[in-house]
Amino acid sequence: MTAPRHAPGAFPAEAPSLEAIRGPIAEPFERFQEELDRAFLCDVGLVGAVGAHLHRAYGKRYRPMLVLLAARGFGEATDEAVHGAVVVELIHTATLIHDDSVDKSLLRRGLPTVNSAFNNDTAILMGDYLYSKAFSILVTRKMYEAMDLLAEATHRMSQGELRQIEQKNRLDLGEAEYMRIIEEKTACLMSAGCELGAHAGGADPARRAALGRFGRAVGLAFQITDDLFDYLGAEQVIGKAMGNDLDGGKITLPLINALRNAPASERRDMEDLIRTRDFRNGHWSDVVRFVTVHGGVAYSQERSALLAARAEEELDHVPDAGIREALQSAVRYAVTRER
Ligand code: IPE
Ligand code: IPE
Ligand code: MG
Ligand code: MG
Repeated sequence: MTAPRHAPGAFPAEAPSLEAIRGPIAEPFERFQEELDRAFLCDVGLVGAVGAHLHRAYGKRYRPMLVLLAARGFGEATDEAVHGAVVVELIHTATLIHDDSVDKSLLRRGLPTVNSAFNNDTAILMGDYLYSKAFSILVTRKMYEAMDLLAEATHRMSQGELRQIEQKNRLDLGEAEYMRIIEEKTACLMSAGCELGAHAGGADPARRAALGRFGRAVGLAFQITDDLFDYLGAEQVIGKAMGNDLDGGKITLPLINALRNAPASERRDMEDLIRTRDFRNGHWSDVVRFVTVHGGVAYSQERSALLAARAEEELDHVPDAGIREALQSAVRYAVTRER
């Protein structure tokens, strides 16, 4: 199985490294890591135990990186930006823990998920702990702008997750409905994170809004890329299982598009294979072939490349050239990454 590649000419095949993108924010990123660790300090042993488990394999820390770069694009990565980055990563972590519990996923970041390493109750309550910790940091630090943005974003994220449940197994799911779900569950948080970063760095309202639009477009492209992983990813590289989305009834863009393009008889056969979950019995490669042959992979890559280009346009509003370049690399990373 090959990892996702983009249409020739759309992007360089190699993803930039996260370390390189983080170069200009190395110091505030260190502070972010320290502050994030502090969020797990609690006299409840289980919080420390789950925290220690999560510390065995970091995520990419992509969202906090965007927050800090957005701040530096207009000024300094202030304390407000660093704590904003912490809060965004806490909210993200909470949603992943809840998402894995809902999806009954076993693998995350190459390790057992919280629901499998501990249990479902722990996953639910630990997700709540992290959500509430995030908002408690915002209140304690009187970060009211960030609170405004993140309250709305988390509210929309939960709507997206609920909408996704409601539309589970719907093989007639349209592209517009899919886009709405990914906007809510993924793009909202990146948009809010970029906007709060820009605000913390001192951007005026127009530039703040531009960074919000940037984060939204990046988030959409990031999620489409993630959805491609379900069909094309290498499990050992991405650290989560392939075919999980479809197994859980999540109908995503590669399949939506391939179903739309395929001749009626092939479409019906594929719908049967999916409905019965017969693809679990050695037919997964048929599904991958179907989404590839009928253009679902190429179409999803085109859509994400287009969104990435739209995101890059918003960067004209960033005065610092070095940071603009780092944010451009972050966009390329979102669509060329392999994990
Ligand atoms: C996973 O996000 C969930 C999606 C929105 C696709 P990431 O791919 O950022 O996960 P980690 O934090 O790096 O593990
Ligand atoms: C993103 O969707 C999850 C959230 C935004 C909470 P996915 O369900 O695709 O995320 P993964 O693939 O499990 O990381
Ligand atoms: Mg999931
Ligand atoms: Mg996914």
